[in-house]
Amino acid sequence: ARVMVLFGGRSGEHAISCATAGGVLRALDRDRYDVLAVGITPTGRWVLADDDPDRWAITEGRLPQVEDTAAHVLLPQDVQDRAVRVLEADQLPRDLGDVDVVFPLLHGPFGEDGTLQGLLELADVRYVGAGVLASAVGMDKHMMKLVLAGHGLPVGPFRVLLPGDLARDPQLAAKAAAELGLPVFVKPARAGSSLGISRVDDLADVDAAVAEAQRHDPKVVIEATIVGREVECGVLGGRGGVRPRASLPGEIVVTDERHTFYDFEAKYLDEAGVRLSCPADLPPEVIARVQEAAVRTFEAVGCEGLARVDVFVTPDGEVVVNEINTMPGFTPYSMYPRMWEASGIAYPELVDELLQLALE
Ligand code: DAL
Ligand code: MG
Repeated sequence: ARVMVLFGGRSGEHAISCATAGGVLRALDRDRYDVLAVGITPTGRWVLADDDPDRWAITEGRLPQVEDTAAHVLLPQDVQDRAVRVLEADQLPRDLGDVDVVFPLLHGPFGEDGTLQGLLELADVRYVGAGVLASAVGMDKHMMKLVLAGHGLPVGPFRVLLPGDLARDPQLAAKAAAELGLPVFVKPARAGSSLGISRVDDLADVDAAVAEAQRHDPKVVIEATIVGREVECGVLGGRGGVRPRASLPGEIVVTDERHTFYDFEAKYLDEAGVRLSCPADLPPEVIARVQEAAVRTFEAVGCEGLARVDVFVTPDGEVVVNEINTMPGFTPYSMYPRMWEASGIAYPELVDELLQLALE
């Protein structure tokens, strides 16, 4: 089958998407799949891209980026037409042939949030992962919490600041934080990789944290701290009414106290600052609870293909759902492929299963 590996994009997670693509390009069996690598530049141009995995690695703290190659890729928007074309300077569009499936390895807005999925639906092109609504719900931490709570899943206490709320009541953020109890986490509703997130230990810092979050999204969520271990669980499958499977959970252990939470630095740039413990050392009944919560979260949001569900396990073994990521990272630092490896599915098999699910 012909696979378009699509990555980069307009969100703040551009570089992480490139690193994710590097991981997948390395794992794809080139005897089985004909790979077309397409990058989206930070300004939104679709270009033919290098399919060499090494090009997209995060090396020595340097973040990769898709450059404009002047070979602009055009998707079909006509359901009768599957051909992808490339438009080079002063030339007529050149046919790149049909694509059987798109692997949209995009994180964050304009990629993981349903917008790209809508484009692919209109073009009638198959793609890996969640559809329009599930992607949109999974991207928006406010909507996600409403959907999960509506399904009876345990979510932590939170408040939302809608775009005009602070104009009506400038004290609202501080009041919300005081009610929730410090420390709180202030987050843009729609972002990823911890971009724009602050941990606030002092009420005097709330407004600055809200302003920082608003650089990413006018809608902001303030969350109470959940005391517990940070545990993640991979979910896979879930097409055609078949219940998806859950991986063994993994645990995030922040080892350097300069990272007061699992922030962007700790995630991708400071290899020593965080340890991924996989499988997580948890009693069997707690593992079962995490897996059940992960699958129910996946189903509540209406996901397909894959997702990573992040939870807290409290000291008494209860599970609180923090969030779902509909296109989790596949970088060498990422938990999703590692959790499946620990569960007996090697990275190339995982990529193959995801493509086969989309092609079914
Ligand atoms: N948003 C990042 C890529 C993740 O969830 O892994
Ligand atoms: Mg996340």
